[in-house]
Amino acid sequence: MAKYMVTGSTGNFGGLALYYLSKKVAKSDIIGLARSEDKAKKLRDQGFDVRIGDYTNYESLVNAFRGVDRLLFVSSTTSGEISRQIQHENVVDAAKEAGVKFIGYTSLIKADTSQSPLATDHVFTENLIKESGLNYAILRNSWYLENEKNIIDAALNIGKFVYSAGEGKVAWALRREYAEAAANALSSDEDYDQIFELAGDSATYADLVAALANASDGKFEILSLEPADHKRFLINNDVPEGFADYLVELHQGMKNSMLDSDSNDLKELLGRDLIPLSDAVAEIL
Ligand SMILES: NC(=O)c1ccc[n+]([C@@H]2O[C@H](COP(=O)([O-])OP(=O)(O)OC[C@H]3O[C@@H](n4cnc5c(N)ncnc54)[C@H](OP(=O)(O)O)[C@@H]3O)[C@@H](O)[C@H]2O)c1
Repeated sequence: MAKYMVTGSTGNFGGLALYYLSKKVAKSDIIGLARSEDKAKKLRDQGFDVRIGDYTNYESLVNAFRGVDRLLFVSSTTSGEISRQIQHENVVDAAKEAGVKFIGYTSLIKADTSQSPLATDHVFTENLIKESGLNYAILRNSWYLENEKNIIDAALNIGKFVYSAGEGKVAWALRREYAEAAANALSSDEDYDQIFELAGDSATYADLVAALANASDGKFEILSLEPADHKRFLINNDVPEGFADYLVELHQGMKNSMLDSDSNDLKELLGRDLIPLSDAVAEIL
């Protein structure tokens, strides 16, 4: 029987991927990767085997990956003293050294052409994986709907739904939908060697407003602002300037379809339709 490992399994995406994987294959064939014994405990209590490894420590990864056939590599959140690119290189090289046969990697939608500052590390990692000689599925996730929680909370708490992405479209889906698709790819016996553009149904912020109005009793003003006014609003509401700049830039990218796609890959990997936006918004409220 194949052995499966999910990295980042103590996080949101990896935890969901473990859960969906356990619906497809025996729990005894699933291993989570955690950075510490402390964090591993919760997963062990759920009946998962857990090994300890850190993307910044190559040897820990080689040891953790031994005997694993199919690895779901959840991209690192952090670029600290050791850059995200080095961390990702460690994971791919260690997988190869340990004899892993297949890597599923969580990348970013349209990574190769994206203007997003996040894309560089993903393209770097995709290339490493393609050159590694291992079988692969590049899982290019579009935007998590959960990323909009701050805008939604502001609408419900201070009565203002604020954005500057204009009529730009975003292919939002729930994190759990991407995670289930990843688990499906991992548990398949396909070699794939394929890039998946995993996208929800295209929607604008006006559509998100309508979904929120549908899913909540909240009354809020809708402010579709110019970038400078969006930044001012964020700073006036205690968002640190660097993060405000990032968010405003993100919205300008969204205006230019940076996170949009008409790909059906997510539906195809899930084998069903996606959760409609108003139901998905209700779920994250
Ligand atoms: N497409 C999108 O909209 C979107 C949005 C957010 C994030 N992302 C990407 O998707 C990934 C998963 O998202 P998430 O929501 O699950 O994030 P999360 O909840 O923060 O989980 C990140 C996981 O990565 C682990 N990790 C971080 N650095 C590590 C290292 N050096 N070595 C080993 N493990 C490490 C964390 O371990 P600890 O528990 O020990 O911290 C955690 O398990 C993120 O890392 C990010 O790259 C995509």
